[in-house]
Amino acid sequence: MNNMRNFKSILVTGGAGFIGSHVIRTLLQQRPDSKLVNLDVLTYAGNLENLRDVETNPNYTFVKGDIQDKGLVHELFEKHRFDAVVHLAAESHVDRSIENPMAFLETNILGTATLLNAAKNAWSEAEGDRCFYHISTDEVYGSLGDEGLFTEQTPYDPRSPYSSSKASSDHLVRAWHHTYGLPIVISNCSNNYGAHQFPEKLIPLMIRNIRDERPLPVYGEGVNVRDWLWVEDHASAIDEILHRGQNGQTYNIGGLNEWKNIDLVHELIRLVDASLGREAGSSMKLITFVTDRAGHDMRYAIDASRIEAELGWKPSITFEKGLAATVDWYLKNGEWLDSVTSGQYQQYYDTMYSNRG
Ligand code: NAD
Ligand code: DAU
Repeated sequence: MNNMRNFKSILVTGGAGFIGSHVIRTLLQQRPDSKLVNLDVLTYAGNLENLRDVETNPNYTFVKGDIQDKGLVHELFEKHRFDAVVHLAAESHVDRSIENPMAFLETNILGTATLLNAAKNAWSEAEGDRCFYHISTDEVYGSLGDEGLFTEQTPYDPRSPYSSSKASSDHLVRAWHHTYGLPIVISNCSNNYGAHQFPEKLIPLMIRNIRDERPLPVYGEGVNVRDWLWVEDHASAIDEILHRGQNGQTYNIGGLNEWKNIDLVHELIRLVDASLGREAGSSMKLITFVTDRAGHDMRYAIDASRIEAELGWKPSITFEKGLAATVDWYLKNGEWLDSVTSGQYQQYYDTMYSNRG
């Protein structure tokens, strides 16, 4: 087993987003001796409602700001003397990256470089443990055929503006490690699902549309495959890697849980119809095959044997349980779904989906 590190002051970026909010909750629960600062600019995807239950925790501070703001990032390092950074802030939606790549390059690449420089400057003379933890995605490895899994040795082959911006940021993190000796870890995770995911992503979008009896836009023939992981399991993997991962190492994280999109949509219809007391399968008629995503990656699947062997981590719950709990959460939190999807998002949805058909 690897040695345990402890951190007194942790900068979490993007903590008001989907995964970030679960990471903050997990760290506050698991590490009562660590202070956390959440730096988030609150894009459409960031929402302080996701953190209502922790906002008065004395170990938690929120700062609204951009990771590209050098002055602010420097000031925060000076003030809080961070000994770790858990970097999640990013533009994260593939379809948006196809429409507007520049925002992805700015936040995901330049924002990461700004944080790396701040950590390098602050930690150049530091004694004791330091860790810059970069949260990345399995999409950097490209697209699989019917066989095989992504390992940590799979060559990078990103194919969308989103995944290439994430791949670039992974390269920068490794470059700062090799060139300047910055202590780092990276993890590359598969598709997450669970509470508080912005409903532009497949699972919450489908749940909302089934609830509202709106068309269910399945891209192409619905045969693309994703490997789904419960977001709280991702958060617990991040906690383990931060505290016990090897300096310079990369860890793949996945659910060993591959689903064809169309099969997953059928499953969601089954669960939502049952929860709403509708006749079984009554929402099947809503399925609408639409124009495929440009450059749509066919299949992602993760080999997570390194994190299991080194850190003893593996997913804690079955997809059956996790998906039922997720459907339940969105149906019980209709207000959250409706508030985050009003205004600007509605405009985005109307534009994106009017182009498909
Ligand atoms: P998200 O879009 O839900 O949240 C991103 C958060 O980052 C938001 O709170 C947003 O306000 C904030 N943010 C964006 N630009 C910022 C900036 N310039 N400065 C400060 N804050 C900014 O994303 P998510 O799904 O929670 O993903 C979090 C991280 O995990 C991302 O780095 C993503 O690439 C990675 N990841 C996501 C998944 C997934 O399935 N969602 C899987 C693997 C890896
Ligand atoms: O693999 C990890 C990645 O997973 C993360 O890095 C990304 O941040 C995250 O957004 C996710 O990317 P995907 O593109 O796989 O997720 P999304 O939910 O957008 O789509 C999942 C699959 O469903 C994909 O094959 C496209 C398809 N899809 C998606 C939407 C939104 C549809 O068929 N219809 C839809 O309306």
